[in-house]
Amino acid sequence: MDLTVNIAGVKFPSCFMNASGALCVTREELWTLGRSHAGAVVTKSMTVESRQGNPLPRYVGFPGGSINSMGLPNLGYKAYAELIPELKQFGKPVIASIAGLCEDDFPTIAQVINEAKPDLIEVNLSCPNIPGKPQIGYDAEASERLMKRVRKVITVPMGVKLPPYFDPAHHKLMGDVIGRCGVDFLNLINSVGNGLVVDPETESVVIKPKGGFGGLGGTIIKPVALANVRAFWKYFNGTMPIIGTGGVSNGVDAFEHILCGASAVQVGTVLVEEGVQVFTRLEQELSACLEKKGYKSVLECRGKLKEL
Ligand code: DHB
Repeated sequence: MDLTVNIAGVKFPSCFMNASGALCVTREELWTLGRSHAGAVVTKSMTVESRQGNPLPRYVGFPGGSINSMGLPNLGYKAYAELIPELKQFGKPVIASIAGLCEDDFPTIAQVINEAKPDLIEVNLSCPNIPGKPQIGYDAEASERLMKRVRKVITVPMGVKLPPYFDPAHHKLMGDVIGRCGVDFLNLINSVGNGLVVDPETESVVIKPKGGFGGLGGTIIKPVALANVRAFWKYFNGTMPIIGTGGVSNGVDAFEHILCGASAVQVGTVLVEEGVQVFTRLEQELSACLEKKGYKSVLECRGKLKEL
Protein backbone atom coordinates (compact mmCIF):
# COMPACT_ATOMS: atom_id res chain seq x y z
CA MET A 1 0.00 0.00 0.00
CA ASP A 2 1.31 3.44 -0.89
CA LEU A 3 0.91 5.66 2.17
CA THR A 4 3.38 8.27 0.90
CA VAL A 5 1.96 11.72 0.29
CA ASN A 6 3.00 15.09 -1.04
CA ILE A 7 2.14 18.39 0.57
CA ALA A 8 3.06 21.65 -1.14
CA GLY A 9 5.75 19.84 -3.13
CA VAL A 10 7.31 18.12 -0.10
CA LYS A 11 7.33 14.33 -0.05
CA PHE A 12 6.28 12.48 3.13
CA PRO A 13 7.21 8.78 3.61
CA SER A 14 3.91 8.23 5.48
CA CYS A 15 0.69 10.22 5.82
CA PHE A 16 0.75 9.97 9.64
CA MET A 17 2.57 12.40 11.90
CA ASN A 18 2.33 13.94 15.33
CA ALA A 19 0.07 16.90 15.93
CA SER A 20 2.02 19.84 17.26
CA GLY A 21 2.00 19.72 21.04
CA ALA A 22 2.03 15.93 21.33
CA LEU A 23 5.42 14.61 22.51
CA CYS A 24 7.41 17.22 20.58
CA VAL A 25 8.74 19.80 23.03
CA THR A 26 12.20 18.54 23.96
CA ARG A 27 15.16 17.40 21.86
CA GLU A 28 14.67 13.85 23.15
CA GLU A 29 10.99 13.80 22.20
CA LEU A 30 11.75 15.17 18.73
CA TRP A 31 14.49 12.58 18.20
CA THR A 32 12.07 9.86 19.30
CA LEU A 33 9.62 11.06 16.64
CA GLY A 34 12.47 11.13 14.14
CA ARG A 35 13.34 7.48 14.86
CA SER A 36 9.68 6.37 14.83
CA HIS A 37 7.43 5.49 11.89
CA ALA A 38 5.99 9.03 11.91
CA GLY A 39 5.97 10.52 8.40
CA ALA A 40 7.29 13.85 9.66
CA VAL A 41 8.59 15.55 12.79
CA VAL A 42 6.39 18.44 13.88
CA THR A 43 7.71 20.73 16.62
CA LYS A 44 5.78 22.16 19.51
CA SER A 45 4.54 25.67 18.74
CA MET A 46 7.42 27.92 19.67
CA THR A 47 7.44 31.35 21.23
CA VAL A 48 10.17 33.99 21.48
CA GLU A 49 11.14 33.08 25.05
CA SER A 50 11.25 29.55 26.45
CA ARG A 51 8.23 28.79 28.64
CA GLN A 52 7.42 26.35 31.45
CA GLY A 53 3.72 26.51 30.54
CA ASN A 54 0.69 26.44 32.81
CA PRO A 55 0.51 24.74 36.23
CA LEU A 56 -0.28 20.99 36.47
CA PRO A 57 -2.52 19.12 35.95
CA ARG A 58 -2.84 20.58 32.46
CA TYR A 59 -3.66 17.53 30.30
CA VAL A 60 -6.23 14.87 31.15
CA GLY A 61 -7.39 12.03 28.93
CA PHE A 62 -10.91 10.66 29.42
CA PRO A 63 -13.02 8.11 27.51
CA GLY A 64 -13.52 9.65 24.08
CA GLY A 65 -10.97 12.42 24.22
CA SER A 66 -8.77 14.79 26.16
CA ILE A 67 -8.67 18.29 27.56
CA ASN A 68 -5.53 20.39 27.79
CA SER A 69 -4.37 23.80 28.78
CA MET A 70 -0.62 23.42 28.40
CA GLY A 71 0.16 27.12 28.09
CA LEU A 72 2.79 26.80 25.34
CA PRO A 73 5.60 25.06 27.20
CA ASN A 74 8.51 25.16 24.74
CA LEU A 75 12.25 25.74 24.46
CA GLY A 76 12.01 29.11 22.68
CA TYR A 77 12.57 29.61 18.96
CA LYS A 78 16.36 29.92 19.10
CA ALA A 79 16.68 26.40 20.54
CA TYR A 80 14.42 24.98 17.80
CA ALA A 81 16.39 26.87 15.13
CA GLU A 82 19.44 24.90 16.32
CA LEU A 83 17.56 21.60 16.48
CA ILE A 84 15.99 21.74 13.01
CA PRO A 85 19.17 20.89 11.00
CA GLU A 86 19.86 17.79 13.12
CA LEU A 87 16.19 16.68 12.90
CA LYS A 88 16.39 16.74 9.10
CA GLN A 89 18.88 13.84 9.28
CA PHE A 90 16.02 11.40 9.91
CA GLY A 91 15.09 11.64 6.24
CA LYS A 92 11.55 12.89 6.75
CA PRO A 93 10.11 16.39 6.61
CA VAL A 94 10.48 18.69 9.60
CA ILE A 95 7.54 21.01 10.21
CA ALA A 96 8.24 23.96 12.49
CA SER A 97 5.17 25.26 14.30
CA ILE A 98 5.41 28.91 15.22
CA ALA A 99 3.24 30.83 17.64
CA GLY A 100 3.55 34.12 19.48
CA LEU A 101 2.18 36.00 22.41
CA CYS A 102 1.65 39.09 20.25
CA GLU A 103 1.53 39.79 16.53
CA ASP A 104 5.10 41.12 16.33
CA ASP A 105 6.50 37.86 17.69
CA PHE A 106 5.43 35.90 14.60
CA PRO A 107 7.68 37.57 11.98
CA THR A 108 10.59 37.61 14.45
CA ILE A 109 10.32 33.84 14.90
CA ALA A 110 9.44 33.15 11.27
CA GLN A 111 12.57 34.88 9.95
CA VAL A 112 15.03 32.96 12.12
CA ILE A 113 13.23 29.62 11.78
CA ASN A 114 13.02 30.04 8.00
CA GLU A 115 16.81 30.42 7.94
CA ALA A 116 17.10 27.07 9.76
CA LYS A 117 15.32 25.58 6.71
CA PRO A 118 12.60 23.32 8.06
CA ASP A 119 10.80 21.62 5.18
CA LEU A 120 7.60 23.49 6.02
CA ILE A 121 6.46 26.10 8.51
CA GLU A 122 3.06 25.93 10.18
CA VAL A 123 1.78 29.23 11.55
CA ASN A 124 -0.40 28.54 14.56
CA LEU A 125 -3.36 30.93 14.59
CA SER A 126 -5.26 28.87 17.11
CA CYS A 127 -3.71 28.49 20.56
CA PRO A 128 -6.66 28.64 22.99
CA ASN A 129 -4.79 28.40 26.27
CA ILE A 130 -3.04 31.65 27.08
CA PRO A 131 -5.06 33.47 29.74
CA GLY A 132 -6.33 36.76 28.33
CA LYS A 133 -5.22 36.08 24.71
CA PRO A 134 -8.01 35.21 22.28
CA GLN A 135 -7.22 32.92 19.36
CA ILE A 136 -6.06 34.96 16.36
CA GLY A 137 -7.90 32.59 14.04
CA TYR A 138 -11.24 33.88 15.28
CA ASP A 139 -10.30 37.41 14.16
CA ALA A 140 -10.24 37.47 10.35
CA GLU A 141 -8.58 40.90 10.07
CA ALA A 142 -5.81 40.06 12.54
CA SER A 143 -5.30 36.71 10.79
CA GLU A 144 -4.91 38.39 7.40
CA ARG A 145 -2.48 40.99 8.74
CA LEU A 146 -0.39 38.33 10.43
CA MET A 147 -0.34 35.87 7.52
CA LYS A 148 0.75 38.63 5.12
CA ARG A 149 3.55 39.68 7.47
CA VAL A 150 4.97 36.17 7.95
CA ARG A 151 4.58 35.30 4.27
CA LYS A 152 7.08 38.07 3.48
CA VAL A 153 9.85 36.35 5.47
CA ILE A 154 9.01 32.67 4.85
CA THR A 155 10.51 31.05 1.73
CA VAL A 156 9.67 27.40 2.54
CA PRO A 157 6.05 26.18 2.14
CA MET A 158 3.87 28.03 4.66
CA GLY A 159 0.76 26.56 6.22
CA VAL A 160 -1.68 27.77 8.81
CA LYS A 161 -3.17 25.79 11.67
CA LEU A 162 -6.71 26.97 12.17
CA PRO A 163 -9.20 26.59 14.98
CA PRO A 164 -12.50 24.87 14.21
CA TYR A 165 -15.21 27.01 12.65
CA PHE A 166 -18.82 26.15 13.19
CA ASP A 167 -20.61 28.18 10.54
CA PRO A 168 -20.30 28.10 6.74
CA ALA A 169 -20.10 31.91 6.77
CA HIS A 170 -16.87 31.62 8.77
CA HIS A 171 -15.45 29.00 6.39
CA LYS A 172 -16.10 31.40 3.52
CA LEU A 173 -14.73 34.43 5.35
CA MET A 174 -11.51 32.61 6.30
CA GLY A 175 -11.27 30.94 2.88
CA ASP A 176 -11.32 34.39 1.27
CA VAL A 177 -8.64 35.65 3.69
CA ILE A 178 -6.41 32.60 3.17
CA GLY A 179 -6.75 32.96 -0.58
CA ARG A 180 -5.22 36.45 -0.35
CA CYS A 181 -2.25 35.48 1.81
CA GLY A 182 -0.13 33.04 -0.20
CA VAL A 183 -0.87 30.10 2.07
CA ASP A 184 0.53 26.78 0.77
CA PHE A 185 -1.33 24.34 3.01
CA LEU A 186 -3.86 24.18 5.86
CA ASN A 187 -3.84 22.16 9.05
CA LEU A 188 -7.40 21.55 10.28
CA ILE A 189 -8.20 21.61 13.18
CA ASN A 190 -6.62 22.70 16.42
CA SER A 191 -8.32 21.64 19.63
CA VAL A 192 -11.92 22.69 20.17
CA GLY A 193 -11.28 25.60 22.44
CA ASN A 194 -12.47 26.18 25.92
CA GLY A 195 -14.43 23.10 26.73
CA LEU A 196 -14.94 22.09 30.34
CA VAL A 197 -14.60 18.57 31.74
CA VAL A 198 -16.13 17.87 35.16
CA ASP A 199 -15.41 14.98 37.52
CA PRO A 200 -18.70 14.33 39.35
CA GLU A 201 -16.93 12.19 41.96
CA THR A 202 -14.71 14.99 43.18
CA GLU A 203 -17.20 17.67 42.09
CA SER A 204 -14.27 19.42 40.45
CA VAL A 205 -12.77 20.50 37.20
CA VAL A 206 -9.99 18.17 35.99
CA ILE A 207 -7.26 20.60 34.90
CA LYS A 208 -5.87 23.48 36.93
CA PRO A 209 -5.33 26.39 34.50
CA LYS A 210 -8.08 28.82 33.58
CA GLY A 211 -10.60 27.43 36.05
CA GLY A 212 -10.62 24.10 34.20
CA PHE A 213 -11.37 25.41 30.70
CA GLY A 214 -9.20 23.94 27.94
CA GLY A 215 -8.87 22.63 24.40
CA LEU A 216 -10.69 19.41 23.60
CA GLY A 217 -9.10 16.72 21.45
CA GLY A 218 -9.59 13.09 20.52
CA THR A 219 -12.52 11.06 19.23
CA ILE A 220 -15.19 13.48 20.44
CA ILE A 221 -13.97 16.20 18.06
CA LYS A 222 -13.76 14.05 14.92
CA PRO A 223 -17.01 15.26 13.30
CA VAL A 224 -15.93 18.87 13.84
CA ALA A 225 -12.54 18.17 12.28
CA LEU A 226 -14.05 16.32 9.30
CA ALA A 227 -16.49 19.19 8.70
CA ASN A 228 -13.66 21.72 8.61
CA VAL A 229 -11.50 19.58 6.31
CA ARG A 230 -14.45 19.10 3.97
CA ALA A 231 -15.56 22.74 4.03
CA PHE A 232 -12.09 24.09 3.15
CA TRP A 233 -11.44 21.32 0.61
CA LYS A 234 -14.61 22.39 -1.19
CA TYR A 235 -13.92 26.10 -0.81
CA PHE A 236 -10.55 25.65 -2.59
CA ASN A 237 -11.95 23.14 -5.14
CA GLY A 238 -9.49 20.48 -4.02
CA THR A 239 -6.46 22.61 -4.84
CA MET A 240 -5.33 23.42 -1.27
CA PRO A 241 -3.30 20.71 0.49
CA ILE A 242 -4.86 19.91 3.86
CA ILE A 243 -3.47 18.13 6.89
CA GLY A 244 -6.41 16.63 8.77
CA THR A 245 -6.12 16.74 12.54
CA GLY A 246 -8.73 15.86 15.12
CA GLY A 247 -10.18 12.61 16.35
CA VAL A 248 -7.87 10.18 14.57
CA SER A 249 -7.26 7.16 16.76
CA ASN A 250 -7.37 4.35 14.18
CA GLY A 251 -6.92 3.69 10.48
CA VAL A 252 -10.59 4.16 9.65
CA ASP A 253 -10.60 7.61 11.26
CA ALA A 254 -7.67 8.51 9.00
CA PHE A 255 -9.55 7.12 5.96
CA GLU A 256 -12.50 9.39 6.81
CA HIS A 257 -10.21 12.45 6.94
CA ILE A 258 -8.68 11.47 3.59
CA LEU A 259 -12.12 11.03 1.99
CA CYS A 260 -12.98 14.54 3.20
CA GLY A 261 -9.86 15.90 1.50
CA ALA A 262 -6.93 15.49 3.88
CA SER A 263 -3.59 14.61 2.26
CA ALA A 264 -2.07 13.64 5.60
CA VAL A 265 -3.29 13.12 9.13
CA GLN A 266 -1.93 14.20 12.50
CA VAL A 267 -2.48 12.54 15.85
CA GLY A 268 -2.44 14.25 19.23
CA THR A 269 -4.48 12.56 21.96
CA VAL A 270 -3.84 8.99 20.79
CA LEU A 271 -0.11 9.69 20.49
CA VAL A 272 0.02 11.01 24.05
CA GLU A 273 -1.96 7.97 25.25
CA GLU A 274 -0.01 5.28 23.34
CA GLY A 275 3.38 6.74 22.48
CA VAL A 276 5.17 6.62 19.13
CA GLN A 277 4.33 2.93 18.63
CA VAL A 278 0.93 4.20 17.54
CA PHE A 279 2.36 5.06 14.11
CA THR A 280 2.99 1.42 13.15
CA ARG A 281 -0.54 0.49 14.22
CA LEU A 282 -2.07 3.37 12.24
CA GLU A 283 -0.09 2.43 9.12
CA GLN A 284 -1.26 -1.18 9.36
CA GLU A 285 -4.87 -0.23 9.98
CA LEU A 286 -5.06 2.34 7.17
CA SER A 287 -3.33 -0.07 4.76
CA ALA A 288 -5.86 -2.79 5.61
CA CYS A 289 -8.75 -0.36 5.24
CA LEU A 290 -7.59 0.92 1.84
CA GLU A 291 -6.84 -2.58 0.62
CA LYS A 292 -10.33 -3.79 1.57
CA LYS A 293 -11.79 -0.85 -0.37
CA GLY A 294 -9.69 -1.62 -3.43
CA TYR A 295 -7.46 1.45 -3.26
CA LYS A 296 -3.73 1.35 -3.94
CA SER A 297 -2.74 4.66 -2.36
CA VAL A 298 -3.85 7.52 -0.13
CA LEU A 299 -3.93 9.88 -3.10
CA GLU A 300 -6.38 7.69 -4.99
CA CYS A 301 -9.20 8.28 -2.48
CA ARG A 302 -8.37 11.78 -1.27
CA GLY A 303 -11.43 14.03 -1.37
CA LYS A 304 -13.63 11.30 -2.88
CA LEU A 305 -16.36 11.57 -0.25
CA LYS A 306 -19.81 10.90 -1.76
CA GLU A 307 -22.76 13.14 -1.12
CA LEU A 308 -26.34 11.88 -1.04
C1 DHB B 1 -1.18 25.08 23.23
C2 DHB B 1 -2.36 24.52 22.83
C3 DHB B 1 -2.75 24.62 21.52
O1 DHB B 1 -3.92 24.07 21.07
C4 DHB B 1 -1.97 25.28 20.62
O2 DHB B 1 -2.35 25.37 19.36
C5 DHB B 1 -0.77 25.84 21.02
C6 DHB B 1 -0.37 25.74 22.33
C7 DHB B 1 -0.74 24.99 24.62
O3 DHB B 1 -1.58 25.13 25.52
O4 DHB B 1 0.47 24.82 24.86
